[in-house]
Amino acid sequence: MRNFRSSAVSWPRARLARAFASWVAVLGAVGVAGAAACTSDDPAPAVVPDGGSPEGSVGAEGGSSSSGGGGLDCNEDLGAGGLQQHLSCTGLYTDIKTKAVADGARPFKPAIPFWTDGAGKGRWIHLPPGQKIDTSDMDEWKMPVGTKVWKEFQIDGKRTETRYYVKTSPTLWKKTTYRWNAGETDAERLDVGEKNVNGSTFEIPPTDRCDSCHLGQSDRLLGFEAVNLALPGAEGLTLAKLVAENLLTAPPARTTITIPEDATGKGAAALGYLHSNCASCHSSAPTAPQNYVGLDVKLSAKALLSDTPPKLSELPTYTTTVGKPMTVFAGGPPTRITSGDPDQSGVVFLAARRTSDELGQMPPLGSHTVDTVGLQKVRDWIAASP
Ligand code: HEC
Ligand code: HEC
Repeated sequence: MRNFRSSAVSWPRARLARAFASWVAVLGAVGVAGAAACTSDDPAPAVVPDGGSPEGSVGAEGGSSSSGGGGLDCNEDLGAGGLQQHLSCTGLYTDIKTKAVADGARPFKPAIPFWTDGAGKGRWIHLPPGQKIDTSDMDEWKMPVGTKVWKEFQIDGKRTETRYYVKTSPTLWKKTTYRWNAGETDAERLDVGEKNVNGSTFEIPPTDRCDSCHLGQSDRLLGFEAVNLALPGAEGLTLAKLVAENLLTAPPARTTITIPEDATGKGAAALGYLHSNCASCHSSAPTAPQNYVGLDVKLSAKALLSDTPPKLSELPTYTTTVGKPMTVFAGGPPTRITSGDPDQSGVVFLAARRTSDELGQMPPLGSHTVDTVGLQKVRDWIAASP
C-alpha cells in the first residue's frame, strides 16, 4: 500500500491552481429583479424532515404575510440583490412563531439526502399556481419563473439555518441563507457564512459558494429532481404526485425508479449514495462544476425510466470508476475504484477524510465530519465486488 500523508494533499502546484480557478469561478450571477409573488392554494401535507426535526409543520390558511415575525413590515424588508432580510418575509410561513407553513409551500424529501454532518433537514417548494415544470429533458428540469425553494437545517433538533433559492427570470436564480435566532422566532440573512455553528462541525456556507454544488443542474435544484423523487424513500411532493397533479409538461410513463443491482446485492445502495452526495459536481452535465474530471456518478432518470434500463455495469458510475485511474488527485490510491479493495479506491479514500485543504477531501466543502454510515455502503459494494 502507498504511504500517504493523512492531512496534507500532494497536489501538484499547477494542478491546484487550475482546480481553484475553475472551482471558485462558478459563483452564480446575482441580479436585482424584484421578489416574486409568493402563495398558491395547493394543499400542504405535513413536513417530511430527514430526522431530528423539532416538529412537523402543517399547512395553514393561505395568503401572503405582509408582516413577518415580531410585527416586521415585509414591504420594507428587501435588502441587497432584492432579497428579503428575514425568512418570515419570503413567503414560507404564514406565521413563523407557530411555524405555520403557507399552503403553497409543499414539503418534499429526496429519497437519498445529501450528508451535512448529521444535521436534520426539512425542505419546501413553492410552484407558481397554474405553471408546470418543463420536463422535456427528464434529467434537466426547468422550473417556472417564480419557483421558490427552502431547505431548513436543524442541529440537535434546533433550527439553525434555512437556505433559499428563488427563480426571478428564465435565466436567474437568486439565493441566500437565513440564520435562525436562539429563540427560533425568525431567521436573518447571513451571506458571509459561519463555521462551527452552535459548537458543532456544521458550517453555513457563504452564499457565493452555493452554486459550487448547485450548478450540478443547469436549473439549480439538486434534490428536487426525477431520480430522487422517484426512488423509494422520497416523500411529500414525489414524482408520482407531480404527475398526478399534472405539474409536468412531459410526464413519464412510470413514476418509480429502481437503481440497477449486480450480483453483490450491494451495488444499488452504493450508486444511490454517490448520486446524491457526489454527482452535483461529478457528472457529465454541461454545467457540472467538475465535469472536466471525467468522473460521472450521476444516475440518469431518462435512462432508468426507459423501457430497457441499463445494467449496473453499463452505468457511467461504473464505467468511469471501476479500474479507472485517478487523474487529478495524486497521493492516494492510484485507482478510483479497485474491485474487492475499498482501501485502494480513491473514491473511498477521499470521501473518508477531512482536511483543512478543501481539495484534500470529498466533498470539498459543506462537511467536516465523515458520513461513515453512508460511505459504508460504498465500501461494502466495493469489498463484495469480484
Ligand atoms: C456542498 C454542496 C452544497 C452546497 C455548498 C450547497 N448546497 Fe444546497 N443542496 C445540496 C444538495 C446535494 C441538495 C439536495 C439534497 C438534499 O437536499 O439533501 C441541496 C438542496 C438544497 C435546497 C432544496 C432544493 C433542491 O436543490 O433540491 C435548497 C433550497 C438549497 N440546497 C439551497 C442552498 C443554498 C442557498 C446554498 C448556499 C448558502 C446551498 N444550498 C449550498 C448541496 C449543496
Ligand atoms: C462541490 C463539488 C464536489 C463534490 C460535491 C464532490 N467533489 Fe470530488 N472533486 C471536486 C474537485 C474540485 C476535485 C478536484 C478537481 C481538480 O483538481 O481539478 C474533485 C476530485 C475528485 C476525485 C479525483 C478524481 C481523479 O481522477 O483524480 C475523486 C475520486 C472525487 N472527487 C470523489 C468524490 C466523491 C466520492 C464525492 C462524494 C462523496 C465527491 N467527489 C464530491 C469537487 C467535488
